[in-house]
Amino acid sequence: MSRDRQRLEALRERLHYHAHRYYSLDDPEISDAEYDALFAELKVLEHQHPEWIVPDSPTQRVGAQPLAAFSSVVHRVAMLSLDNIFSEQDLADFDRRIRERLQLPESADVGYVCEPKLDGLAMSLRYVQGSLVQAATRGDGQQGEDVTHNLRTLPTVPLRLQGTVPDRLEVRGEVLMPKSVFLSLNEQAQARGEKIFANPRNAAAGSVRQLDPRVAAGRGLEFYAYAVADCSTPLPSSHTLTLHWLRELGFKIAEPWGTGWGPSFCRDSYHYLAQNRSRLPFDIDGMVVKVDGVSAQQILGYVARAPRWAAAWKFPAEQVVTHVLGVDWQVGRTGALTPVARLEPVNVGGVIVSNATLHNIDEIARLDVQVGDAVVLYRAGDVIPKIDRVLFEERTGALQPIVPPTACPVCGAEVIRPEGEAISRCSGGLYCPAQRLESLCHFVSRRAMDIDGLGEQWIKQLIDHDQVHQPADLYRLTKVQLLPLDRMGEKLADNLLQAIAHSRETTLPRFLYALGIRTVGEATARSLAQHFRSLEGLLQASREELLRVADVGPVTADFLLTFMHQETNRKIMDDLRECGVHWPAVQVVAGWQGGSFVLTGTLSSMSRDEAREHLLRLGAKVSGSVSRKTQAVIAGAEAGSKLAEAERLGVPVWSEADFLNLLREQGVELSSTTTHPI
Ligand code: IVH
Repeated sequence: MSRDRQRLEALRERLHYHAHRYYSLDDPEISDAEYDALFAELKVLEHQHPEWIVPDSPTQRVGAQPLAAFSSVVHRVAMLSLDNIFSEQDLADFDRRIRERLQLPESADVGYVCEPKLDGLAMSLRYVQGSLVQAATRGDGQQGEDVTHNLRTLPTVPLRLQGTVPDRLEVRGEVLMPKSVFLSLNEQAQARGEKIFANPRNAAAGSVRQLDPRVAAGRGLEFYAYAVADCSTPLPSSHTLTLHWLRELGFKIAEPWGTGWGPSFCRDSYHYLAQNRSRLPFDIDGMVVKVDGVSAQQILGYVARAPRWAAAWKFPAEQVVTHVLGVDWQVGRTGALTPVARLEPVNVGGVIVSNATLHNIDEIARLDVQVGDAVVLYRAGDVIPKIDRVLFEERTGALQPIVPPTACPVCGAEVIRPEGEAISRCSGGLYCPAQRLESLCHFVSRRAMDIDGLGEQWIKQLIDHDQVHQPADLYRLTKVQLLPLDRMGEKLADNLLQAIAHSRETTLPRFLYALGIRTVGEATARSLAQHFRSLEGLLQASREELLRVADVGPVTADFLLTFMHQETNRKIMDDLRECGVHWPAVQVVAGWQGGSFVLTGTLSSMSRDEAREHLLRLGAKVSGSVSRKTQAVIAGAEAGSKLAEAERLGVPVWSEADFLNLLREQGVELSSTTTHPI
């Protein structure tokens, strides 16, 4: 071997060793400057002899080109999960089960290792002859993703193992983003107006799932080893010795961890970790208890997808105190107003939280929360911030009750909360920008104005391009406005315009339904049309009159009145009519009261199920037995006892022809093939 080659090998060896001392052991033997000098020397040699560059050289951490996609990896040994324990009682049960299985006498204690439960991403690293060959995510436990290109950029992932190395080794551990890195990363992102990560775990996951290793390299991730999954040489006899061995090989082990006897040791360790949690450089969500002896582990074995010899003792969700500064009311796509508490920003388990949803007025009442209150905050499921309770003893007097606004914060329309309901809603409907997409999609839907082909994707684009604000704008659309839309073509534009034009000819029930007035469904729209016969008639109706309509109760009546009295809604209806939306005069159906029908015998034009469907869609009820309240019995061929019953009770009996007439008058389209000539 040439002198240069010898020097190069020696440099690599020393750099691997010193990187391990520095990154994994936190115990450097040489200064940063000395390390940098060695590194620079290696770079020069590799530059002179590029044929000597190998992937596990300390210079090659960020060598790989970005991937086009991740490839999947089948784990040789499944990546398991852990059973949870939540209390000292659970721990005692866990310990008892282990002692029973190991047939230990009363006096003997089990040896345990207690470790932090790292809140990151499980990872499996494979080494062949001491060199890193593969890093894979957990995935579903059987199959994960190959993220070698990213993991090799982490200084705490040894590219070459130290000391005597086994031929084959698979190490399991966790990738984490230290809290300090997370905070500064989010600060930078915020300064640039970019999206911030919710917590270090998500940030680590996002970084590991990068196709470009340069991104992951800049994210300050760390790898901590906690188990050996596969090894070509016999393993140490205890988990304690395994952790020491992993350290010698070059891995970082999360501190603090310890070995001791019996449940009392585990209990003390748990309380120690819980108390010192916030001082650790990374997020942990509990403690992992492992039986120390490897032969004991083997006797205990596995159940389902978790070892019997280990358990995760989770911490309760972290709670902090903060103050409610105010409440914002957000308007959802259906007009529902959601109160969101604005909070004095606080750190909850490593995440800065500055607001929390209050859901609705019932939740506000349940908490009895007011603006100015001190509240206890936690992150439900460790993610979503939630207010747990008010600290009433801290109330000083300067409080303000939380009441829903009377006008929508987005469009200014009146806000309504029906009696007994927890949700307040904006009555702006079609006019409210927050509800525009939802209400336009409803407006064009098949059972409303039935504009064929005008789906959500087009409406969304039309709104984004500022072409459509309210329904009438649809009828003013021109090809020039449609063509710039993404994926739009000449033919498609023609078809859409034709469908829009076609929908001008409609029925009053469809029109009323399309307006999207709350609780006014198809059946109510039909009853309203039947009752008032014209839009003008409806618009002049009093509350009493509305309440006389079958299907209309106090809630619907109030929604109708609010809608009709809103100037903007009147204008929307006028505009639509001006744009040519029209309908034929309403045919009043004698005897139609939206009542209850009974079907009997065989119909020739449709099955009984189809007939039932039609009636239900019209808002009628269909019953299986005849009573005095039955509006009519529809009798087909070979009608039996129900027909007799109707005659006995004096209930009207309709023929199939009567029934088909009713359907036609109600605007039901009957396909000609199934219609019997009558
Ligand atoms: S040992 C066979 N040790 O917890 C046991 N897991 O809930 C394998 N975890 O997917 C796991 N810290 O990602 C072990 N010190 C620790 C851990 C730990 C965190 C994670 C791991 C696993 C999950 C199971």
